[in-house]
Amino acid sequence: MAATIKSEWVFEADCRAEAAVHGLSSADGRFVLQAKLGDGGHGRVYRALDTKYARQVALKFAPRGNGHGWRAVRREVDVRRKLHDRSCVVAALGLYEVAWAARQFVAVSLEFVPAGTLRDWLKRHEASHGYRLEKGLQLFAGLCDSVAVFHAQGFLHLDLKPANVLLTASSPVLCDLASSISLRHEKNVKESPSHRVYSTPAYTAPELWRGEDPQRVGARADCYALGCIGYEIFSRECRPPFSGGADRQRTGHLFETPARLGGVPEHIRRVIQRCLEK
Ligand SMILES: Nc1ncnc2c1ncn2[C@@H]1O[C@H](COP(=O)(O)OP(=O)(O)OP(=O)(O)O)[C@@H](O)[C@H]1O
Ligand SMILES: [Mg+2]
Repeated sequence: MAATIKSEWVFEADCRAEAAVHGLSSADGRFVLQAKLGDGGHGRVYRALDTKYARQVALKFAPRGNGHGWRAVRREVDVRRKLHDRSCVVAALGLYEVAWAARQFVAVSLEFVPAGTLRDWLKRHEASHGYRLEKGLQLFAGLCDSVAVFHAQGFLHLDLKPANVLLTASSPVLCDLASSISLRHEKNVKESPSHRVYSTPAYTAPELWRGEDPQRVGARADCYALGCIGYEIFSRECRPPFSGGADRQRTGHLFETPARLGGVPEHIRRVIQRCLEK
């Protein structure tokens, strides 16, 4: 397997890898990075070839050490280990320590989902409100089912947003469990002292903006995020209820009523409105 290093792997102060590493293979040759899929707050995600099983995977990794990226990658595995029904999350295939360009990383390999995320779907259908109304309900219902299965096992996701929902052939499933907490095993939260909520402003519940303890807020925080996602799917403008800078969004989520969803069947509008109640 070709292992051409096309560019040097440069590290920023926060130890995030630079782009343009296609064709770079792990020191043992097992993984070959093929394309960047995501560049998040916790680590980077690449489509990679797992040469041991000749299959494509999504490889989420972070530099080894004590940074939050490293803990977030470990958490992807730890949370899944505690789930007995994993149908609600994208499958994790393994956790590895790998070396690229003489640097050590921890990486979790995930089932690669070619259809991408709900964010990609929204981008494709942004201009077609009719199509989103027609197909979006099935996606939204499937997403709510996955969240319900996750919650039923005592977990909160706490960073629900379209980019963290993968559209597998059978249903929308959750990815990015870095902010997830267990409601049942309070110990889990204490096990990772640096764990804190990294939710995204456009989908963050008023309680979390107020700084309330997510464990006390419970499922409500994820339900509010679902309301924001549903609002985005079904709104003509294809936008979540509040946008703008963090201060603007904070005010919106805490004090304002979202603009009425126009051209949306009443039963859908009511569900979204209920999720978005303050
Ligand atoms: N299994 C997968 N199959 C296909 N694409 C994936 C997969 N996992 C992740 N991605 C892509 O990579 C992106 C980032 O993944 P993820 O959310 O797990 O990383 P993150 O670093 O925590 O990101 P962020 O901080 O932006 O939420 C996703 O939004 C998606 O586009
Ligand atoms: Mg993410």
